[in-house]
Parts: sequence; C-alpha cells; structure tokens
Amino acid sequence: HLIGFTERNGNWHAEDLSLADLAKEFGTPLYVYSKRALTEAYQAYDRACVDASGKRRARIHFAMKANSNLAIIDCFKQLGAGFDLVSGGELSRALAIGADPSSLVFAGVGKSADEIAQALKAGVKCINVESIAELHKINQVATRLQCRAPISLRVNPDVDAQTHPYISTGLKDNKFGIAYHEVLKTYREAALLSQIDIVGIDCHIGSQITTTAPYLDAVDKVLDLVAQLKKEGIEIHHLDLGGGLGISYGEESPPDITEFTNTLLNRVAERGFGHLDIVLEPGRSLVGNAGVLLTHVEYLKPGAEKNFCIVDAAMTELMRPALYEAYHAIVPVQSKPVKSVTYDVVGPVCESGDWLGRGRSLAVEEGDLLAILSAGAYGFVMASNYNTRPKPAEIMVDGKNVYLIRQRETVADLFANESTLPKQTHSPL
Ligand code: LLP
Repeated sequence: HLIGFTERNGNWHAEDLSLADLAKEFGTPLYVYSKRALTEAYQAYDRACVDASGKRRARIHFAMKANSNLAIIDCFKQLGAGFDLVSGGELSRALAIGADPSSLVFAGVGKSADEIAQALKAGVKCINVESIAELHKINQVATRLQCRAPISLRVNPDVDAQTHPYISTGLKDNKFGIAYHEVLKTYREAALLSQIDIVGIDCHIGSQITTTAPYLDAVDKVLDLVAQLKKEGIEIHHLDLGGGLGISYGEESPPDITEFTNTLLNRVAERGFGHLDIVLEPGRSLVGNAGVLLTHVEYLKPGAEKNFCIVDAAMTELMRPALYEAYHAIVPVQSKPVKSVTYDVVGPVCESGDWLGRGRSLAVEEGDLLAILSAGAYGFVMASNYNTRPKPAEIMVDGKNVYLIRQRETVADLFANESTLPKQTHSPL
C-alpha cells in the first residue's frame, strides 16, 4: 500500500532518495511527502471519473483539511482537482495558489458571517449548509452583499459508517448535517429565500471507512430526496458524496480507489441520475500514504513493566495516536543487526497520552532514525506548539529531487506575537 516509500537493502527511501540522507539534510522531526504517491492516488480516482466515451461524470475536490500545505494543494490543482474547504483560512490557501473559485465547495457546521461573505465574494461553486439557522445567515449576508448564494444542504443520512466515533459524521446523534427527515422541509424553505440558489445536495458519512456498503446506503437515501425534490419542482444539479474512504495503516484492507469510485458512480447512473454532476471530497485516501514522519531516537529507557523508546517527535507533530488511539506503523530507517526489544514509542511532551506507538518490536539504538508511516493525512495539519515546540519542516520528494515546502519553525516565531504587560511605574493600591 506504500507507493512512494520503499525499503531497499535495509534502507528506507522516499522515491529515489534515502530517508537517512534527508534527515541529515533537513533535521528531525521531519514530514516527508512523495509526489508520485499523491499523483497516483489522484489518478486512481480520476480513472473512474471519466467514462468509456471520455465524458467526465465526477470531479474530485481534495479535502484540504487532510493536508493544506501550499505545495500539496498546488500539486492537486495541477492534476485537475477542486477543493473542499472548511474555513476562511482554507479558502485563503486555495486562492493563494490560484485555484479557480468555481472549483471550491465550502463546508463546516459553524461558518461565521465573515467566512460566508469571504466565500460569496470569492465566488465559490457552492456553500454546503448544515442548519436552518445557517441558511438564513447566508441569505442575510448575500442580501447585504447584493449577490446570490449557491447552496447545497448537507444531509445527515443516518447511516453507520462503522468507524471511530470521533470521525463518524453521518449518524443522527452527530452534530453534522441536516436531519434526514428535515431535509425536504429545509429545501422548501430555501426555495423561498430571495438570495439563495439551490444548486446541489451533499452528504459525508465519516472518515477512515473501509467498506463500500454504507456509501451505497447513503447514496440511495440521498437520491430518494433528489427524486422527491424534482417532483416538487426543486431541481438539483450536483450531488456531493463527501469523502471518507479509508487507507491501510497496517491491517485494514479498504476497497481499491478506482473500484470504489466506479461502484458509487454506477449506482447513481443505474438509479437514473447519471445526468447529475458528481463531486467527491476525498482527503485521507489522496495523501495519507503519501507522507511519513521522521524522528530520531533520543533515549532508550528500560523499565520493569515497559520499555520506552523516547523520540524527538511527539503528539505535537502527530496527534492521531493520542486522540484516536490510531495505529501508525513505525520502522527503523536503516536496519541493524541489534536485538529487537518491545517498546512503547513516546515523545518528550509532558502528557501520558503522548505516545506514537505501543508495544512495538524494534531493533534500535540511541540516535537511530525511525519513520512513522502513513502520516500524510491529518498529520502536520493537526500539529500544535504545546510545550513551546516549533512545528517541524515539511519536504516533498519528486524522483531524485527534494523541495523544502515548509521551513521548520523557530522558537522565536512562537512568541513573536506575544507581549508582556506594560511595566508599572508606581505600585497599585
Ligand atoms: N468532506 C467533509 C465534509 C469532511 O468533514 C471530511 C473530513 C472530508 C470530506 C474528508 O474525509 P477523508 O476523505 O479525509 O476521510 N482527523 C481525523 C479525520 C477527521 C475527518 C474530518 N472530516 C483523523 O485523523 O482520522
């Protein structure tokens, strides 16, 4: 499942470059991405998006929350992708790389009036609306700006995506989307608002989903709504099926991207909705396996109950294990003839939840380099500065070439925007 990263004669490489050399040049912790890996993942989607006669039946909008580095999103733009955005900040990133505003969809449960105005002024393709209150706010902002607002309603289809509860979004007790039984009523209300243009319908059922069945349930439920809306004279032009396809972090065997996409698109066509423009919003499945996090072993600390391998990366660089107990494979970058020992791989942050892998058998010594695999999605973007830790550098490998795509932060950067209180000239009463 790893395209850009391979082990050759005991040495891990990113495409044609050795990870050990990259760590030497750029330091650690370090995010390393493979351009080939993300290109091939995109092309796997794209193969299914164009039918045998060459007609495009779906568009890929990369969910940039998974990895919004400008170089990454620029690669996707050049491959033909649009983007799924969830904040004014992400919209600014898309505009900064010159993305066509008509290739942007704007989602999120809590868009502010300023963000709505920013999206309308930019001319995004669609705002995905998650509540009746938001619908009214969009209408107000559009009235003030004297423009029209293209919208979709995000339907909560109430299907169980069978994934981690923190990343499941399509169940009725989740905060996301409009409850299934309220969708028709909300469309009728939207149709009456002066500045609102109904253009689509949207759903997203969760993330790291490893079977196709819940998607087909969601497609069927959403198409039932499209059929009913048509009867009422409300025409839907595009169908956004969200993202969420899982990747293999180790044991999982998610469906093949092209097959998965074909299955969804065929279902839409079989049900007689082939004329709709279809939007897919994958994030993780485009970048997850296109990145690794490199880290040095600082100390090996044997213990009575457990042995710890203390590394220079932490929950601040990769939060997924701490937050979701997520599994990421961890491999020594250069294999060595030393004895394997079972370790918990942990970072230097002052939290017991600061771990990256538990119970891992590793043949390592102090100073060795480890690669934490499948870290391209929800890795750097979820990094924090807790414990005043500068965020790591990010680099992209393309064949024999390497590019620094984000400089390592400095400690000075971290408090550059802070100030102490003015010094008191006399003591307070
Ligand atoms: N569209 C919408 C509306 C979303 O909320 C998401 C992800 C996506 C698309 C992209 O989903 P993907 O294809 O990447 O699964 N931080 C978590 C994942 C949170 C996903 C949030 N929404 C993690 O590290 O597992």
